Amino acid sequence: GSAANEKIDYVFKTVLIGDSAVGKSQILSRFARNEFSVDSKATIGVEFQTRTLEIEHKSVKAQIWDTAGQERYRAVTSAYYRGAVGALLVYDITKRQSFDHVPRWLDELRGHADKNIVIMLIGNKSDLENDRAVPSEDAKEFAEKEGVFFMETSALEATNVETAFLTVLTAIF
Ligand code: GTP
Ligand code: MG
Repeated sequence: GSAANEKIDYVFKTVLIGDSAVGKSQILSRFARNEFSVDSKATIGVEFQTRTLEIEHKSVKAQIWDTAGQERYRAVTSAYYRGAVGALLVYDITKRQSFDHVPRWLDELRGHADKNIVIMLIGNKSDLENDRAVPSEDAKEFAEKEGVFFMETSALEATNVETAFLTVLTAIF
């Protein structure tokens, strides 16, 4: 159930990172509220949403933090990563540059987050297959080399969003 007095066994802070416009906020809104907005505005500062789920018979509150991909709108980096146990590093499968920047995001993440943080690389907008600029194989290879999970999602079509979060949250256990 989802009663307000429900006992929470764990709170897992998870952060979303990646270039601007890759779909971080829409992935979050799909996961937290099962909503999608076509006229999504660029995020300014930090926002977060929570969703409580049952994982391995425990009540887990996923607290998902979302910040701006644009440097000038980003919040203080160290505070953003503090206490995070999971991270979704998102690029857009139709924007090669957003994938080329993934190593930079990974460096920042590894420089600021706990060393045991669970990381998932996400290629979002899989519904735009005709505009694909990043072959799945390239991302899969990169993820294997870096020892992180990898999945392609569509926040628009609700493909793999739930699975991506569940994979990360379960691996945190
Ligand atoms: P910043 O807040 O600037 O860092 O951007 P963001 O990564 O949060 O991107 P946002 O979620 O605002 O989405 C950017 C644009 O991509 C919006 O127009 C969304 O509607 C669109 N978008 C997000 N996810 C998808 C998707 O899965 N498929 C398609 N086709 N469009 C998407
Ligand atoms: Mg955003």
